[in-house]
Amino acid sequence: MKTQGQAPLWEALLNYRQQRMGSWHTPGHKDGAYTWPEWRELLGPALALDQTEVPGLDNLAHPSGAIAAAQERAARFYGAARTFFLVNGASVGLMAVILATCRPGDEVLLPRYAHRAVFNALILSGARPVYLETPWLEAPGLPLGVPPASLAAALQGHPGARLLLLVHPTYEGIVPRTGELVALAHDRGLPVLVDAAHGAHFGLDPALPLSPLDLGADFVVQSTHKTMGALTQAAMLHLREEDPAAGVAAALNLLQTTSPSYILMASLDLARLLAEERGRQDWGRAVARALTVRERLAQAGLPPLTATAVTGPAASGLDVTRLVLPVTALALGSGQAAAAALRRAGQEVELAGAGYVLFIITPGDGEEKIGALLTALLSLPRPAGGVISGRKFAPPAEIPEVALTPREAWLAPHRELPLKEAAGRIAAELIAPCPPGIALVAPGEVMTPAVLDRLQAVRGPAGRVVVVDE
Ligand SMILES: Cc1ncc(COP(=O)(O)O)c(C=O)c1O
Repeated sequence: MKTQGQAPLWEALLNYRQQRMGSWHTPGHKDGAYTWPEWRELLGPALALDQTEVPGLDNLAHPSGAIAAAQERAARFYGAARTFFLVNGASVGLMAVILATCRPGDEVLLPRYAHRAVFNALILSGARPVYLETPWLEAPGLPLGVPPASLAAALQGHPGARLLLLVHPTYEGIVPRTGELVALAHDRGLPVLVDAAHGAHFGLDPALPLSPLDLGADFVVQSTHKTMGALTQAAMLHLREEDPAAGVAAALNLLQTTSPSYILMASLDLARLLAEERGRQDWGRAVARALTVRERLAQAGLPPLTATAVTGPAASGLDVTRLVLPVTALALGSGQAAAAALRRAGQEVELAGAGYVLFIITPGDGEEKIGALLTALLSLPRPAGGVISGRKFAPPAEIPEVALTPREAWLAPHRELPLKEAAGRIAAELIAPCPPGIALVAPGEVMTPAVLDRLQAVRGPAGRVVVVDE
């Protein structure tokens, strides 16, 4: 399938390869000539696409040619004033926006279940987290969105806040009432950064949630690699308005490598083109398949999480292509046990929580593959009496006491203590196992016995934690 002048970066890369220039520059593998033979055999001609900033291939730090053109096309497609290609995942986009908008001591309103990249950004920027009250769905044990009432209360209590961060959708595909939340924030002149790492495909089918850009968000970060066919690490940051002081661009240049991978960047150009040309058709098919899987599972007594179960004050619905299967219908004690059983059956899940397993369905999943998943799921052991009711799963963290900003705690003198001796101490490290990357503890938080119990579950009874040396 030819791109016919519609994928500027990809085409520039192909043109450059055709020129067969003698390479006296990086990368040192010289079009794959100096690499491990098996690697060369597997990747073959693709290695010649691993280029650097030679004439004609533009420069991600200050784009004016093929990269600028590719980013402009992406911005047009997503309805943004400006789009940046990211080569360090959505993580770097989140960090760049927070660095560009916040100074030490500035308050950021956010749900406590934000991804660890956000906490890293708080460490870098010196901003102070203000946590929004968010409900937790006890069965199967996952975070819901942010109720507008929680945001209204936080705006009242923190009129000087600098930024609102929302997660749309959560890892499990749950979508907050983003339109209402953005309107509330904008009424107070507060810009909104949306972590849409898991929502790059939103808006491509009427059954999918809307993109946060369509709901008025100012900054939207998407992991194009998670659902849209770009390569791992390749992501995008969209700005609803231009970046007048070039603050976001400067922050990205502070954080990103000076040797961005052209293979990653071209994969963004092509993912956008694929979505533009076939997105509706491809995602329509993926949605239809996801709905069929949901129906088959429900009919077989293994009901996945539905929009009805989550919709309410804190959530407007969910992404049907994100399949959350509660373990209560299985004779397996936990999501981890279900994931292990599925692995033995040749199926790898995205995430295993205590109370559920999570599957991501994209247009890359064909009928046959989906059939194999269904067969594996339907052969998992079931409890004798049907669905086990009444099982509840506690949240991994409550809203903590924040004694220091994450940056203050990070920079303070610190030492390591056994977990058993750390009650009441201020954490100096971020402990947020991935997936899902939710912080069990973040720097600056006072550690309660309940927090330490959870850390012990991760680090073991002899585990240690880095604390501020008071
Ligand atoms: C909610 C959320 N935000 C951000 C990220 C970071 O995305 P990336 O891996 O593209 O850096 C993740 C990664 O899993 C995530 O789950």
